[in-house]
Amino acid sequence: DKGGWPSFMAKEVSEEPEAVANTLRGRIHDGVIRIPELDGLDELFLGIDRVIVIACGTAAYAGMVGKYALEQWTRLPVDVELAHEFRYRDPVIGASTLVVSISQSGETMDTLMAVKYAREQGAKTVSICNTQGATIPRESDAIVYTHAGPEVAVASTKAFVAQITALYLLALHVGRVRGTVSAATAEELARELESVPAKISRILETEQSRIEQFAHWMADTRSVLFLGRHVGYPIALEGALKLKELAYIHAEGFAAGELKHGPIALIEPGQPVFVIVPSPRESALLHAKVVSNIQEIRARGARVIVVAEEGDAAVLPFADEVLRIPLAGPMFEPLLAVVPLHIFAMGLSTAKGLDVDQPRNLAKSVTVE
Ligand code: F6R
Repeated sequence: DKGGWPSFMAKEVSEEPEAVANTLRGRIHDGVIRIPELDGLDELFLGIDRVIVIACGTAAYAGMVGKYALEQWTRLPVDVELAHEFRYRDPVIGASTLVVSISQSGETMDTLMAVKYAREQGAKTVSICNTQGATIPRESDAIVYTHAGPEVAVASTKAFVAQITALYLLALHVGRVRGTVSAATAEELARELESVPAKISRILETEQSRIEQFAHWMADTRSVLFLGRHVGYPIALEGALKLKELAYIHAEGFAAGELKHGPIALIEPGQPVFVIVPSPRESALLHAKVVSNIQEIRARGARVIVVAEEGDAAVLPFADEVLRIPLAGPMFEPLLAVVPLHIFAMGLSTAKGLDVDQPRNLAKSVTVE
């Protein structure tokens, strides 16, 4: 039931605030994080010396965001691997490796095979999953469910923000168990995390119709690039994937620092480029680097669309379009920055008269390898 929305995706994007709130629910008490599903697993988390995150597609981009959080708060080395690439090598893993799998459906065959393989090699496994009783969680030592609710549209939106939320919770939990995050820091972060759903709602209220209008003007666009740094990099990749899937447009995401190592050759007058701008308050350095990347592409004629924090005036002289997001902690920006990109991809698909819920050639759950 679309509940009055024009598509399941429109409904699911509108549910992004709840997807985050419901994934947090019952797991933060007065600023203290406690994930009941992980009770009794302290030994497991104390016995690991590295983390490998495995997933496919959008879930893998959530994993890339999770890498920053896990490294920051657990001080464990973290790698993110596409499940199908991980499975068909001879990866170096063992009893002190924690393998975190991420899957909305819990049935993705590539991810399932990778989890089984990791287990056979003696690794510990935690699964982040949105579907109760699915196969991947059954194959894992522990499960952290995302509570995004059923996702019907083939391309993932609300499950993505829920996956990132679950990864933050997991990272803070493991950080507390291992003593790499203080109680005070965890509390401050937990409270910031709790403020995210209302901030997503604000983006939907203030920016959605403007972004849809803008997507409409861009209906003839043949190629769109996305740039980001740090946690903005996986968001650039996610923005590009959604556009390919929903609007059948060539789209590519890059780490902004890679520009001069090749991709800048693609910039010609009129080329639309989305840039995810990190908060100037949180990292003046990263922010300055991204602003200078924007100047580089603008000088070559790019049409620059920035996703930037409210009040960030430094981007204004170089941006053709500014999509605003509220202030968040440095780690939590992805949960906000992705929302305009989901709206844009959906808007462009609709403007082209395509079926946003059921893109050609795709299936909701990929149960073959
Ligand atoms: C993209 C998308 C896919 C899935 C991927 C993994 O919009 O939906 O890339 O994210 O197939 O699916 P799950 O999370 O079910 O394992």
